[in-house]
Amino acid sequence: MPLVSMRQLLDEAAKGGYGVGAFNVNNMEQIQSIMEAARETKSPVIVQASRGARSYSQDKFLYHLMLAAAELYPEIPLVLHLDHGNSVETCKSAIELGFTSVMMDGSLMPDGKTPSSFEYNVQATKEVVAMAHAKGVTVEGEIGCLGGIEDGHGTGLDGLSHLTDPAQAAEFVKLTGLDALAIAIGTSHGAYKFSSKPTGETLKMDRLIEIHKLLPNTHLVMHGSSSVPKDLQDVINKYGGKLKPTWGVPVEEIQLGIKNGVRKINVDTDNRLAITGAIRKVFVEQPEQFDPRSYLKPAREAMKKVVALRMTQFGQAGHAGDYKPVSLDEMAARYAQKKAA
Ligand code: 13P
Repeated sequence: MPLVSMRQLLDEAAKGGYGVGAFNVNNMEQIQSIMEAARETKSPVIVQASRGARSYSQDKFLYHLMLAAAELYPEIPLVLHLDHGNSVETCKSAIELGFTSVMMDGSLMPDGKTPSSFEYNVQATKEVVAMAHAKGVTVEGEIGCLGGIEDGHGTGLDGLSHLTDPAQAAEFVKLTGLDALAIAIGTSHGAYKFSSKPTGETLKMDRLIEIHKLLPNTHLVMHGSSSVPKDLQDVINKYGGKLKPTWGVPVEEIQLGIKNGVRKINVDTDNRLAITGAIRKVFVEQPEQFDPRSYLKPAREAMKKVVALRMTQFGQAGHAGDYKPVSLDEMAARYAQKKAA
């Protein structure tokens, strides 16, 4: 199956009332983990790469690994998505490379750190929508700012400092014509999201529900959605790591989000934790080893387990064979028709 647009996956997810995990990758092993989990659970899936991942993998390695994934797992609807594009130019280069979906994160200025104005965000996102839709490529935008920093991108502030304003979100969707909307409800990128189990004070699910009420037909995106499970933290610390106590987003809260319009759920940290724990374990228990496969194989297996579990919890499991892929050309024709109507 060729790489498909994210819009098609999210539309199908909305029809079926489930969410789709979007998992970050930097290398071959992470892509393999995701594809094996998708095959095992029969899940459609979104693989995403940040600017940092694109530079780490020199873009072309990543793209050709994704083509290999599509060829080796033809039964899996598979999206290649740009996570947190910082500028129109970054989105353009991703589209030219073959990404089937891009995020224009105009909530921040192109430095990826400074919160932007509403007007700037609308203008940059609109520009990307016009460019991407002409090629059938999906666009995710963001309104409000996530907390923390991911691969050098982010305000570095607390997750509650730039929450999404529901009325502004509705206006943003109308003005830009985007396909999916990332909202800020108190989550942050990275392992240190909450200093205790989140409550309604720190994780604003009521705000998400309010946004969904205003935008019942918009696919919502939850960033910073790793659950940071205690057992993964414990493996790292048991084998010499030094993670401080921390809490992530409980899976039940994500499931509540899915009941209220969340269709894409971004997960990176949980996989990083699983990989690091598995590698540390081999280093401590088998210090004589020096073949990278001796620790990369268990790392790949550990990540696969986390991804397969999330696919089941988000509800995408079992849906890989529900629909035939729509080509990007056909998607472009549909966008053009909608615009003309
Ligand atoms: P986590 O750090 O919670 O995994 O979030 C990842 C993310 O939102 C990528 O955009």
